[in-house]
Amino acid sequence: MKFLFLFASSVALAAPTFNKDIAPILYENCATCHRPGEVAPFSLLTYQDAAKRSGLIATVTKKRYMPPWKPEQGYGNFDHVRRLTDDQIAKIQEWAATGAPEGDAAEKPAVPTFPSGWQAGEPDQVLKFSEPYKLAADGRDQFRCFVLPMNLAKESYVSGAEFRPGNPKVVHHALIFLDSTGTARKLAAASGGSGYPCFGGPGFTGAGLLVGWAPGYTPLPAEPSLSQAVRPGTDVVIQIHYHPSGKPEQDQSSIGLKFSGPPTKGRALLLVVNRYLDIPAGESHYVVKASVTVPQDAELWGITPHAHYLATDMKVNARFPDGTVTPLIWIKDWDFNWQGQYRYKEPIKLPKGTKIELEYVYDNSSGNPHNPSNPPVRVRFGEQTKDEMALAFLGLVLPSPEDVQPFQRAVVLQYVEDFVRLTDNLNDLPEEIPPSMIPRLRMALALFDQDHDGKLNAGERATLLKFIQTMMPQ
Ligand code: HEC
Repeated sequence: MKFLFLFASSVALAAPTFNKDIAPILYENCATCHRPGEVAPFSLLTYQDAAKRSGLIATVTKKRYMPPWKPEQGYGNFDHVRRLTDDQIAKIQEWAATGAPEGDAAEKPAVPTFPSGWQAGEPDQVLKFSEPYKLAADGRDQFRCFVLPMNLAKESYVSGAEFRPGNPKVVHHALIFLDSTGTARKLAAASGGSGYPCFGGPGFTGAGLLVGWAPGYTPLPAEPSLSQAVRPGTDVVIQIHYHPSGKPEQDQSSIGLKFSGPPTKGRALLLVVNRYLDIPAGESHYVVKASVTVPQDAELWGITPHAHYLATDMKVNARFPDGTVTPLIWIKDWDFNWQGQYRYKEPIKLPKGTKIELEYVYDNSSGNPHNPSNPPVRVRFGEQTKDEMALAFLGLVLPSPEDVQPFQRAVVLQYVEDFVRLTDNLNDLPEEIPPSMIPRLRMALALFDQDHDGKLNAGERATLLKFIQTMMPQ
């Protein structure tokens, strides 16, 4: 009898309730997005809000669809991981299956509060859209670039940047670039205002990625040792992915910048990219590879993988000079809507000669529900929604600011080398080259075709690369 009693009471103790077991999980892992005014379609702060959706909550957490967190566990040790434990998922399952009980009010944790101001400290300069951007109630997602002049009087050093969505209900993610070329301004003027439509990036090459943002993102504190030099005339370009909310909305987002003195360490963004992808219509498993060798010792602090709608599986590894391989990230079910910037808990040391290897898989069949083309079409590299991309940005720290230029130079030379390898047959140049450039390029390449066989062999390619190297600015 006593035994039975003990048994019954332990079951009663174990049965999860909202107040004791579930609210702490939801407040910690869901409330950043599921609270009034934020990106998620409903709040999960009260018992009523959660209980009426207990079945759905159990389903989406079991599938790990929520909270949105794409990297596979064990492939990169990231900071700010948004992932429920197996135990938490089991508790939610049990709670939903036992009728979602509320439990004892005394056990309910305090509803979390969220900082409303700048999270990484008061900025030195705030740039805001000159006027609110109007978004229709429904329709397709919109991708728009806003150009915000910094109006710098002299060369300055940016040590921190924090994006703040004006209307978090509709801002799905944002990428912030620095443009010192004036191109974004021209694109905006041509489209009649302070912004222009853009999809994958700012719509041109030459702008550097400053920072990214997605719901739940924790901004980095300012880092004067890694400040970035910015010339007068530079603009901040904010690319925003808007998701209509069902009501007409307005957004006036802003960016806060911190300034400091010149950096004491080097900061480099290593781009691993394959621009030559060519995915046949209907192909359900198209593999794209790319690699870059790290030209000198560096520390890796973060990674931003990027592709559009057809990518399914994305892997980036580091192959060290001793042959060992360390996974940097693996995303098994890429979702364009939940792309992120991932930061490592501890920076990863990449000795000179480490090869960064990217391998992405694309599904261009009609069986891919994200395929923007129906029926599928041939897809190549580009910035439009129907184009694809295969790239990853690696955030690196180099021992000193003087290391940055030689580092970037060595990397650019590798890109050129890849390109030259592809252009070895002068009569069959890659289709990515604009047709207007082909006659001149063929003439230039022919200068190095010493045996006049219409192809560049290994020796001829080496001569060409040496020539390019001497032409590059020191
Ligand atoms: C980073 C922001 C974010 C976090 C964190 C987050 N959600 Fe969501 N959630 C969303 C957004 C946005 C949607 C609507 C779009 C979608 O379904 O992808 C959504 C949708 C949902 C849905 C509806 C799914 C459907 O099919 O209708 C449920 C249920 C849900 N979330 C539960 C949770 C739970 C439970 C957690 C925490 C364990 C959580 N979410 C954490 C952003 C978030």
